[in-house]
Amino acid sequence: MTRLSELPAYNKLRAHRAEIEGLHLREMFAADPQRFSRFSLQLDDLLFDYSKNRITSETVGLLTELAQQADLERWIGRMFGGEAINETEGRAVFHVALRHQANTPMTVAGQDVMPAVRTVQQQMRRFVDALHSGAHLGHTGRKLTTVINIGIGGSDLGPQMVSTALRPYWVEAIDVRFVSNVDGAHITEALRDADPETTLFIVASKTFTTLETLTNAKTARRWLVEGLGSEDAVAKHFVAVSTNLNEVKRFGINPQNMFEFWDWVGGRFSCWSAIGLSIACAVGMEQFEQFLAGAASMDQHFRNAPLEQNIPVLLGLLGIWYTNFFGCEAQAILPYDQYLARFPAYLQQAEMESNGKRTDRQGQQITDYQTAPIIWGEPGTNSQHAFFQLLHQGTRLIPTDFIAAANPSTELHDHHQLLLANFFAQTEALMQGKTAEQVHAELSAAGASPATIAQLTPHRCFPGNRPSTALLFERLTPRSLGRLIALYEHKIFVQGVLWGIYSFDQWGVELGKQLAKRIIGELANDGTVPKHDASTNGQIAHYRRLREPSSR
Ligand code: F6P
Repeated sequence: MTRLSELPAYNKLRAHRAEIEGLHLREMFAADPQRFSRFSLQLDDLLFDYSKNRITSETVGLLTELAQQADLERWIGRMFGGEAINETEGRAVFHVALRHQANTPMTVAGQDVMPAVRTVQQQMRRFVDALHSGAHLGHTGRKLTTVINIGIGGSDLGPQMVSTALRPYWVEAIDVRFVSNVDGAHITEALRDADPETTLFIVASKTFTTLETLTNAKTARRWLVEGLGSEDAVAKHFVAVSTNLNEVKRFGINPQNMFEFWDWVGGRFSCWSAIGLSIACAVGMEQFEQFLAGAASMDQHFRNAPLEQNIPVLLGLLGIWYTNFFGCEAQAILPYDQYLARFPAYLQQAEMESNGKRTDRQGQQITDYQTAPIIWGEPGTNSQHAFFQLLHQGTRLIPTDFIAAANPSTELHDHHQLLLANFFAQTEALMQGKTAEQVHAELSAAGASPATIAQLTPHRCFPGNRPSTALLFERLTPRSLGRLIALYEHKIFVQGVLWGIYSFDQWGVELGKQLAKRIIGELANDGTVPKHDASTNGQIAHYRRLREPSSR
């Protein structure tokens, strides 16, 4: 493997970056009437407009050259071929099989996984249909209408984000909630108005050893058994989603109530598996299948489109362009859709847990280029009234992704027009900026004195030339949502390949977990002195002093 920074196209891109330094997007648009059509693509109803990025045709050519030199096409083939490309865990990366539509095999280590995938999908369908029809009732014979998913990380963020996004598709009388944090406040609030007779718990954990999830699941179980007065209630009110049958049994959930998935499904890529059971409970299995089909359409595009017309590839390369050649430290995700409120949080795990790494595939430290940027964002227009000031006039350059549907998910079409007017206005404003001449003319027209004009002009100028990428599609549906998520999943894959890292492990979350386990045993007020650094010891001692006697 040649390091990214040693690829021939990398050096060419560095030189090219210096060459285009002085170019302003405003001028590039003025000089090229074809710029929008040159730098936009359409996949069905999805418009991918990347023309408001600081690129020329040469940039795109060099970036795709870089991707070729990094062997991207071979890596895509390896992923879709079910190869064990997650080498540090010895696993395939095969979430694409979960949404595979054709009647053709998808093999891992010579074995077709599709029969097992279809079996679990059928099991999900039977369960969800029975839940909705009332064929599966609670312990006291009442319908289960509150579904509480207990999981964390990939076993929470994906299902939660998707369920939130598809709120208008929820079947009648279903209420789906999510508990993830080990902070007791989370489950307390989720259970506050819940009725044990009508509550179903989905314990979602790939490993079934995660402290937060097991703690919350035990609390939920106690609440249920106390509420219904019988241990037998667990059978009707608890199901598990996991790869770990033994731990599920150990917890006391009947294996018949377990929905299986497999080690080739990464946690943060698992909403397509039975981890999506809470989504299916919310919207029904037909809509869940539409969600899978939408993702499959992006998989086909990613697998087959040439690099320079491949949306996830281009989105990934744009990120590389800004991270590695402009020194950008962050990437803003700006859905102009309240139903996509959790999408930035979901992408924080998907991108930062995947590509927030400093060791390359040869085990060498990466010292001469950056990997994953900080992912953050909030829905428009709220974000405009919070942090857009920094995007427009701050000292940092922050690339932005603007995401919107042309049609609303509500009846309030007038609201939607205002929302989209803002969507268009903001990408235009970021790109165009406002010159001193424009500010001057505005202030003069408003009758400002020369002194006021001189004083205010620097503050009221916008530099512009701030990059944005727009994703605009017909409507937020299960299908278009599946396609959108798959687009970002593949973007993450592309970037991981180019950065030369393993995107599908997450060793960086282990140290804190290990230390927390050790510290749990040290919190008792038994006179022992914890054996940590002075700061950690001091914090623990202060905590012990402040803690109320009842919790000692
Ligand atoms: O935070 C680390 C992590 O391992 C994530 O990758 C994963 O999504 C999450 O914990 C939950 O893990 P599990 O599904 O095994 O409970």
